[in-house]
Amino acid sequence: MLTPEQATQWQRDGYLVLPGFKPAAQTRAACRRAAEIVAAFTPGADTGTFSTRDRSRVADAALLASAEAVHCFFEEDAFDAQGRLAVPKDRAINKIGHALHELDPVFDAFSHGPDLAALAASLGLQQPQVWQSQLIFKQPHIGGEVGWHQDGSFFETTPHTVTTFWFALEDATLDNGCLWVQPGGQASPLRERYVCEHTAEGPRLRMEALDSTPWPSSSAPSGAAAASAQAVPLPVPAGTLVVFGGLLPHYSAPNRSPRSRLAYTLHATCGSATYSPRNWLQRSPALPVRGFD
Ligand code: FE2
Repeated sequence: MLTPEQATQWQRDGYLVLPGFKPAAQTRAACRRAAEIVAAFTPGADTGTFSTRDRSRVADAALLASAEAVHCFFEEDAFDAQGRLAVPKDRAINKIGHALHELDPVFDAFSHGPDLAALAASLGLQQPQVWQSQLIFKQPHIGGEVGWHQDGSFFETTPHTVTTFWFALEDATLDNGCLWVQPGGQASPLRERYVCEHTAEGPRLRMEALDSTPWPSSSAPSGAAAASAQAVPLPVPAGTLVVFGGLLPHYSAPNRSPRSRLAYTLHATCGSATYSPRNWLQRSPALPVRGFD
């Protein structure tokens, strides 16, 4: 499925940009379905906001339960002191996850099929296992930055195999918070690892530091040495698929524009690799992990 140029770029840069991978009808249907899910969701005491830095037990429990659910996560400052939504629900949502591709018919169809299966095979993903799906909202004016990270921190396998499939459901631009990546950064070590530990009080999640290699800079390089660590933005139209490996550093800027930037992601590992029992996302026999077929 990959052209020779694409195969070369995948090896050299660690990512591929595939414009038009999804037809407009599918991206529009996905956006409509996202709005329906948010409209139907009633925030409760167990809602939790999404932050990998938030150690609160409620947030840990909400995240762990979402492995086999369709759960809405709100911006951390979306609630007032009484726990009531302080802004309209459809403007407060941060993301929805993490089993849309299993439990929601629209996202099941979006996430599976021969095109994705063929692409995964051509990227070298053997016996792919699609662990999670996320709808990532970047709200107009208030959508926050997602700091530099590697997705391998959340899906550790031996060897490293996690691959991210990032679909633009709306145009992603420099103004509304498109992805930035570090070409070639897939050769750098895993900096940190998000682990689940089972304590007497129940499971707790924490980020563990592994390596102090600096993150790339998204500002203009100041010299030849800086150029090697330079980050590049990936503004892409709706329907584009960006794929990258789990060691590729990436980031997205805040959205200061009046336009939203909705993206959908899938994370898949090789079934032939060992999936860490310390990864936060585990599946029960009731919802076994499956591939792109
Ligand atoms: Fe990521």
